Amino acid sequence: MTDSVRENLIDGENGSLYVNNKWERFTDIHCHCLPGLDDGPSTMKEALALCRMLAAEGIATIVATPHQLGRFESFNEAATVREAVNNLNESLKNNAIPVEVVPGGEVRVDERICKLLESDRILTLADGGKYLLLELPYQVFIDIEPLLIELASMDIQSIISHAERILPTAAQSNLLLHWLDQSAHFQITASSLLGDFGPEAQRAAWDFLTSGRAALVATDSHDIDSRKPRMRTAFRHISDKLGKELAHLVCIENPLRVINGRDILPLSLCDQKEIDR
Ligand SMILES: [Fe+2]
Repeated sequence: MTDSVRENLIDGENGSLYVNNKWERFTDIHCHCLPGLDDGPSTMKEALALCRMLAAEGIATIVATPHQLGRFESFNEAATVREAVNNLNESLKNNAIPVEVVPGGEVRVDERICKLLESDRILTLADGGKYLLLELPYQVFIDIEPLLIELASMDIQSIISHAERILPTAAQSNLLLHWLDQSAHFQITASSLLGDFGPEAQRAAWDFLTSGRAALVATDSHDIDSRKPRMRTAFRHISDKLGKELAHLVCIENPLRVINGRDILPLSLCDQKEIDR
């Protein structure tokens, strides 16, 4: 075991990790934690159980990202999500669970997205107006460059959700470079790095990281069983394989930048000597 991984194994209060000489907690930018809205928890009790697990993982802030558009068309509009976030935060406080939830959405790709943003019907991450979590279809590959350009004209940057599951063979393709040029970012799922979605998604997830094309890791957790948050273990695996600087950037620094409306930093800023490919 490397020194960096040994250091990251020190556990602190509220699931915090000791990294770079200080205690750190994660921000999760993609999580289905709101009760009764989508394929996440059905009840407040289940939502609290998931949030308790997220807190134990070391997550301080969760962006609630219920599905919007696609099969959830007409449901989960911005006002509904904001109200559900307020209710969950109140229950978290009453149950002394140390996490904060902020509003967001996982928005299915749709030609009406810009208009729906203007009429406040779908949500950007942390309601900040800077980053939109965009879900692409699984079955067909579509070029979203026109939508990325339209969003960029509104000063909104897109984050492609669970890219490793949607683009498993495309991690090296030139098309993705065009998307990156249009202010797109790629989010990969912590549990994919650990093999929970099979070898193809696992390979693609690591490929996205080692090629420097994924800037963010999130849990995309739905429950405490089959789709549970695995940020802590993923962080340790990334530290071990690619260095703690890169792990810190994709799991801690960049997710925090998203909710604070700051620019996402590229992986090229990491010390390449630390990367053991
Ligand atoms: Fe999701």
